[in-house]
Amino acid sequence: MFGGGDRAKTFSTQFDGLLFDYAKTTLREDILAALIQLAEEAQVAQRRDAMFAGEKINETEGRAVLHTALRRSGTGVFVDGEDVMPGIHATLDRMEAFANEVRSGAFQGAGGKITDVMNIGIGGSDLGPAMAVLAMDSYADGPRAHFVSNVDGAQIAQVMRGLDLSTTLIIVASKTFTTIETMTNANTAREMMAQVVDDPAAQFAALSTAADLTADFGIAPERVFGFEDWVGGRYSMWGPIGLSLMLAIGPDNFRAFLRGGEAMDQHFQTAPFAENLPVLLALVGMWHHQFCGFGSRAVLPYDQQLSRLPAYLQQLEMESNGKRVAMDGSDLPDQAGPIVWGEPGTNGQHAFYQLIHQGTQVVPCEFLVAAEGNELGRSVHHRLLVANCLAQSQALMVGRTLDEARALMQDAGFEGDELERQARHRVFPGNRPSTTLIYPRLTPYVLGQIIALYEHRVFVEGVILGINSFDQWGVELGKVLAKEVEKLILEGPVDGTDGSTAQLVNFVRNSVDA
Ligand code: F6P
Repeated sequence: MFGGGDRAKTFSTQFDGLLFDYAKTTLREDILAALIQLAEEAQVAQRRDAMFAGEKINETEGRAVLHTALRRSGTGVFVDGEDVMPGIHATLDRMEAFANEVRSGAFQGAGGKITDVMNIGIGGSDLGPAMAVLAMDSYADGPRAHFVSNVDGAQIAQVMRGLDLSTTLIIVASKTFTTIETMTNANTAREMMAQVVDDPAAQFAALSTAADLTADFGIAPERVFGFEDWVGGRYSMWGPIGLSLMLAIGPDNFRAFLRGGEAMDQHFQTAPFAENLPVLLALVGMWHHQFCGFGSRAVLPYDQQLSRLPAYLQQLEMESNGKRVAMDGSDLPDQAGPIVWGEPGTNGQHAFYQLIHQGTQVVPCEFLVAAEGNELGRSVHHRLLVANCLAQSQALMVGRTLDEARALMQDAGFEGDELERQARHRVFPGNRPSTTLIYPRLTPYVLGQIIALYEHRVFVEGVILGINSFDQWGVELGKVLAKEVEKLILEGPVDGTDGSTAQLVNFVRNSVDA
């Protein structure tokens, strides 16, 4: 059994209140040493320093990668010779002033104090703040936050049904301000707002890099919070894209979230690789995926407030490291990043854990759990939550042998062939790998630590794979074709439309006409 003995000490690291335990894996000390050497040879430290220094490491887009600057308290981060920190601090101060006005009632809607905020955005302009607002629910004392992302009108219709628009602030969150889903939802929201208030644009704010487009949309510059193109969408919740979070939990808590991220940045930059949480998380992940060949990675927060973390990490990890060519354009010789999926415990236990325990595929599991809960934190609820989390990783590790299963069946009165048959169904192979990240309590600071930890883990994996983790060309083709297919739905298939698409389009057209 791989998790027993002294492994717990050897294969675990603590930093700033966090404990990362990776003893329940097949890693050995010699393997870990080889993996660390791999990271060194891949120049993880040099690439890391280049990122923090503002070098244009996003080579396919010619951009720096500086989301870390958004959570930096100091100054002195240069892009093209200019210190970007004064601008970042000024924008943060403006966000804070606006958040205070909204939260205090100094900024009002047509119907009075703002009671609700609706964030319209998708991908990185939605998943980060939506995940974090849920995670920070125990700290929320501002207007209620709602999120609309899907171009499916069902979502905006459902969210708006419950809102008094005269006291609702609508935030259009889009780095590019061109994303079709977001702009379609924003236009619909503006039309609906116009039916309720005289000056609909007065209850809109925008978060974007495209000041010209936010102005064209009619949003006054004092409610536009800008950022630069060196902040990737899926890394953007630390700045203006986090406005809905700041409105919900207040500027002080938002700043605590930034400090948690900054603490992880410093750890990532200074800790030796053998004690460096992002590096270790990356190496364990690569051991499982690239070396052992396990195809997916389950993220299992035993924390209902982190229930959107798996979805958030799907974008962070799969949009960043779901690539097939290396930085130089050559085909990747190895597997790129894994499929990431998951649901909170204990719910998942009653749904898909069967496959994790007894299925034919090995799924490395990443458990997350707080020592103390935010709600009823010292009650039986939290004790049971933690017990279940720890018991699941233990069960995955120890399993149940055929002899143990036979003994159980014997006790239950079975004999002969039937005992054997029944026992085999009750065997757990064991030695199924998992890691556990324990944090004291899910505070804003701890959330910042966790998110920055995962960001840097993705970075380290990307550097070792030799890919660019900061572009996402793979989402472009579908966007282009969606425009063409929309035309086909309006006008019908044309010569050259492939047979399957033509059939589907005709079915839609006939159903709508019928
Ligand atoms: O899906 C592609 C993508 O560009 C994501 O990377 C991004 O987070 C999302 O679309 C939304 O983009 P924007 O913030 O520009 O609307």
